[in-house]
Amino acid sequence: MASKLQPIVVFLCLSSIFVRQSAAGQCPMSGTSSGRRSLKQAGPSLQFGFYSSSCPSLDNIVSDKITWYTNEDGSTPAKLLRLFFHDCVAGGCEASILLNSNGAGPAERDAPISATLEKFNVIDDIKATVEAQCPGIVSCADILALAAVHSVRLVGGPTFSIDLGRRDGWNSYASTATSFAPLSTFKVDALLTNFGNIGLDQTDLVALSGAHTIGEIHCTNFADRYQGSSPFPDWNFGNEMYNYCSNYGASPDFATLNRKTFMETLTPNFFDAQYFVALTQGRGMMTSDQELYNDWRTRPLVEAFAADRNYFFDSFVSSMQKMGRLGVITGTDGVIRKQCWASP
Ligand code: HEM
Repeated sequence: MASKLQPIVVFLCLSSIFVRQSAAGQCPMSGTSSGRRSLKQAGPSLQFGFYSSSCPSLDNIVSDKITWYTNEDGSTPAKLLRLFFHDCVAGGCEASILLNSNGAGPAERDAPISATLEKFNVIDDIKATVEAQCPGIVSCADILALAAVHSVRLVGGPTFSIDLGRRDGWNSYASTATSFAPLSTFKVDALLTNFGNIGLDQTDLVALSGAHTIGEIHCTNFADRYQGSSPFPDWNFGNEMYNYCSNYGASPDFATLNRKTFMETLTPNFFDAQYFVALTQGRGMMTSDQELYNDWRTRPLVEAFAADRNYFFDSFVSSMQKMGRLGVITGTDGVIRKQCWASP
């Protein structure tokens, strides 16, 4: 297998297309991830119930752990859902977001855009429990996917399955995260390009943005709203947020990294369609949120999701499943890491 793949890997490296490197082949340009990479799926596809014989307790382990962690800290589901997105968007759903930096340079999780990602410890803990029961069977990438699924369910979102069988990558570059994660200041053109680059379309963009119905946001991530380009249409709400962010402790800055508020203030702890309602009211927190309503291309879908929670849920599930297939490593490629933070 290794020798068969080698010429392809060399060709792709020479073409400066960044391809996730499997255990079988390393790009000579190790330490850099410049250029476009393909997130097209190769090899065997994922399957629903992939571990039903090899690790039948997997689903219960993940569900129980996430329930426990959520009881300890209600912010857990949002953080795990975001972690899955950041894994998939940067080089594919192969758990590279979980890897620690090593001699090759800073890893994805140490990129500036990853600074507010949290709950890596939850995945590490689930992995340790899974390893104790099913050693060497379940990838960190699949644990991350399942964690996202159970997180959504636990806070009132749709109950759904995700296909499994991902294997783990073992390279992770901060530059990949920097290049591919969307920015809060993006408007619809940039968002569509960003999502389009990895094979996600306009419906995926709007549906997946609905994840912002839960969780929190730092003031820094909507500071641009006060600089003219996409102000809060609800002026009073914008003013309230401005005061909230300005009056923080000893810091003279509007937006300190430490101050947070809810992503969606109507029902912040529930996964529902109120994010879209908030957008129609001019209360989207980030430019990238509000512009989905401001732009004629995405507004109809925002309105449709705001009016019909089930339509949003169905679309969200499809888009999550689609996102979860981005750039996956399957079959005999990649590895099953023993610890999610460490390359084997
Ligand atoms: C459309 C482009 C997107 C942009 C620009 C974006 C950006 C951001 C930013 C800046 C934050 C706030 C981080 C902080 O201040 O701590 C955030 C939070 C969050 N994002 Fe996104 N995101 C996008 C799409 C997504 C997608 C597709 C998902 C999942 C499917 C997602 C899930 C979340 C969640 C759940 C939170 C709350 C995290 C927490 O409570 O700590 N986001 N996002």
